[in-house]
Amino acid sequence: MNAPLSDTTTALPQAAWQSTFVNRLQRRSSRVIVIELVPATALPLAGFTAGAHVDLALPDARVRSYSLMNAPEHARCYQLGILLAAEGRGGSHYLHTQLREGDSLQASLPRNAFPLHEPAENSVLIAGGIGITPLLCMARHLAARQRPLHLYYSARSRQDAVFLQDLTPLGNALTCLFDDECGGPPDLLPLLAAHPPATHFYCCGPGPMLDAFGLACRRLGITRAHVERFSASSRLPGSLPPRGYDVVLAHSRTRLHYDGQGSLLDFLLRSGVAIPNGCHQGVCGSCATRVVSGEVDHRDGILSEHERQHSSLMLPCVSGCRGTQLELDI
Ligand code: FES
Repeated sequence: MNAPLSDTTTALPQAAWQSTFVNRLQRRSSRVIVIELVPATALPLAGFTAGAHVDLALPDARVRSYSLMNAPEHARCYQLGILLAAEGRGGSHYLHTQLREGDSLQASLPRNAFPLHEPAENSVLIAGGIGITPLLCMARHLAARQRPLHLYYSARSRQDAVFLQDLTPLGNALTCLFDDECGGPPDLLPLLAAHPPATHFYCCGPGPMLDAFGLACRRLGITRAHVERFSASSRLPGSLPPRGYDVVLAHSRTRLHYDGQGSLLDFLLRSGVAIPNGCHQGVCGSCATRVVSGEVDHRDGILSEHERQHSSLMLPCVSGCRGTQLELDI
């Protein structure tokens, strides 16, 4: 995530997988499917909070993260909206072309890197494209609790707004912004300025929209702003230059030398260290790891400046070490 960032990110280590099967698969468009996962055993699925996501374990040891669309009040299933990525690493292509109703899927316990500030006086949700999925979950949750909210749903055209049917219950709390009807992407500055100062703003969508959101928030002095990225930002600091350093695994007191080739996450996985992982782009939070000592060179898109300074988390899929040694709490 880009600044301004959520100040409440909680990237929790993944604990277990749940056996599920695909109860329903809907094709909403040539590029978007919605799947509903239900338990494959007698055990209910783990509950979740609004804004959470789960990882799916796919063939070839691929793991992909997807936001939960259904309200936490209806956690008997997990509903996920999946965009066919144009330049993905094959996960969405597999799900779009191979997955069928009745198929088994392993889903992680839900994690939440985009939590809702529930006591807020007002919540404004701004979604672009597939970024609607976590915001749909939030909107459903807030509506179920009769909390004040407004959802802005932006898409290139009405035809591209394939989640419109899910939003009908919001009534006047929904504003649709279609590029082809509005003459381009929405101008977020007046849109944000129209809401009272105590509002919490949430934005999820394509990188340019999140960058525009960040800029508008900075101009308006908005601090209660939360974003979730589905892919790396054009304004993220970029990849690390290759440089080596020692990595100490605190639990086993093992010292490894990382030569700077590939990501630190890949190096740890190759070294036999089990670390949950998903996007490999620093945006899903799956690989969040606690640092015991050493100066981290943060390159992720989800930790806030506050977290970088005051928490001990790092995302080893994109981040590294500024010094000669990094000690990890694993
Ligand atoms: S694997 Fe997604 S943040 Fe590291």
